[in-house]
Amino acid sequence: MYHLFITGVGTGVGKTLVTTILCHQLRAARRAVWAVKPVVSGFDDRDPESDPLLILRSLGVDPSPERVASISPWRFAAPLSPHEAARREGRRVTIDEIRWFCDRPAGTPGPSSIVLIEGAGGVMSPVAVDGTCVNLMYEIGASVLLVTGTYLGAISHTLTAISALESHEIGIDALVVSESSESVGLAATVEALRHYASRRLPILTLPRLAGSPEDRWRSAPPLIDFVPEFDHD
Ligand SMILES: Nc1ncnc2c1ncn2[C@@H]1O[C@H](COP(=O)(O)OP(=O)(O)O)[C@@H](O)[C@H]1O
Ligand SMILES: [Mg+2]
Repeated sequence: MYHLFITGVGTGVGKTLVTTILCHQLRAARRAVWAVKPVVSGFDDRDPESDPLLILRSLGVDPSPERVASISPWRFAAPLSPHEAARREGRRVTIDEIRWFCDRPAGTPGPSSIVLIEGAGGVMSPVAVDGTCVNLMYEIGASVLLVTGTYLGAISHTLTAISALESHEIGIDALVVSESSESVGLAATVEALRHYASRRLPILTLPRLAGSPEDRWRSAPPLIDFVPEFDHD
């Protein structure tokens, strides 16, 4: 089992888009893949483009309520930080519970699968009562993909996120720069990040994609090259 955690410099930067593109491309490459979004706030079961529904669609699975619950057991209605959205529903979730869930989620095709885990919000969003996403990544011991945008401020947010991950001894396998709707420029942002971040950090770019979610998955450039080949549990 290869766990890859998709985190971001904040909410709305492109984590779900990247997760679903990875599912689409890994399936096209005949790799065994599964994906989960354990904690979702702002969840509306009538929204056909909620994160769990998009993820199931990209896995080629019909999005029944049972399937949604199986990839996203902690769904909260309030569009707030998960700790607060959970509190409003009188619920609580711990880092350890999420870690257990992510270890071997139901639906995973086999022991040598790639399991993608989409985080909630940014690197230090309070995902549980006892910790933030960075604590969860550390406990899971997953490889980490950091997603950022090209909006004004993204360079600082990215360097701050990298610094937070490093200070928690979490390595970053790759950075994906996804072109924001209000962009200061994809090439300029990548150039700045190459200059100010570690030269060893692989940087992948995702230009602005148009069309339906499926159109976007089909037209995206390859993002899976950094996912290692492996044949062990
Ligand atoms: N490169 C891109 N091209 C087109 N749309 C994008 C791109 N990056 C992000 N988006 C769009 O921006 C919105 C927020 O992205 P999303 O993946 O949901 O972010 P997150 O999961 O980090 O909250 C979505 O509608 C998504 O499709
Ligand atoms: Mg998302």
